[in-house]
Amino acid sequence: MSQDELKQAVARAAIDYVVDGAIIGVGTGSTANFFIDELGKIKDRIKGAVASSDATAARLKSHGIAVFDLNDVSSILVYIDGADEITAQGAMIKGGGAALTREKIVSSAADKFVCIADGSKLVDTLGKFPLPVEVIPMAQAVVSRKLAALGGEPRLRLKDGRPLLTDNGCVIIDLAGLTIADAVQLETEINQIVGVVTVGLFARRGADIALLGTADGVKKLTF
Ligand code: 5RP
Repeated sequence: MSQDELKQAVARAAIDYVVDGAIIGVGTGSTANFFIDELGKIKDRIKGAVASSDATAARLKSHGIAVFDLNDVSSILVYIDGADEITAQGAMIKGGGAALTREKIVSSAADKFVCIADGSKLVDTLGKFPLPVEVIPMAQAVVSRKLAALGGEPRLRLKDGRPLLTDNGCVIIDLAGLTIADAVQLETEINQIVGVVTVGLFARRGADIALLGTADGVKKLTF
């Protein structure tokens, strides 16, 4: 099976976690896109969705799914999103699609986080995937120095030769070369750096369930 077929399989499996009549929190990225396409097929069963990025909002709307502002929603029963890496304990690196801050906000409002990913995202230790950190643009240099002091190699994420700007008008610094032994501690430490908006470690509040696509079918991990 191709990686896309594995992503499609977990996207389909995630439909089982959609609660009828509810507003669903929806993540960002290629796996989340497959999920949105599946959600479009059952859109009459749900009230709508809260999106974690402008791109996700646009794709939801293209399927005729109502998109709600988080401020107008009192509860989200389930949030469904991909990950760049996930451990067997449910801690994740996210932000490969630069949507980490809104992903963390929407998932923090949800009762349940269902991570959908192809099996290659399951790792023993987080850090091989460069850790995304969203930063206020004026703080880019000072935050980069502080991130370098943690032992990683900070790289400003570029798009078309210019700093990539997130939906929040911020930049992304990708911190390469880390071996993250204590993800909760590192998440707390990086979030304390002035100028950091969000670090793409989802360990303090990790996934509750992971659906991982493998050649042998969709494997479910519960945390
Ligand atoms: C976006 C994310 C994505 O969930 C993560 O990058 C995984 O993406 P994909 O499903 O394309 O592999 O965190 O900010």
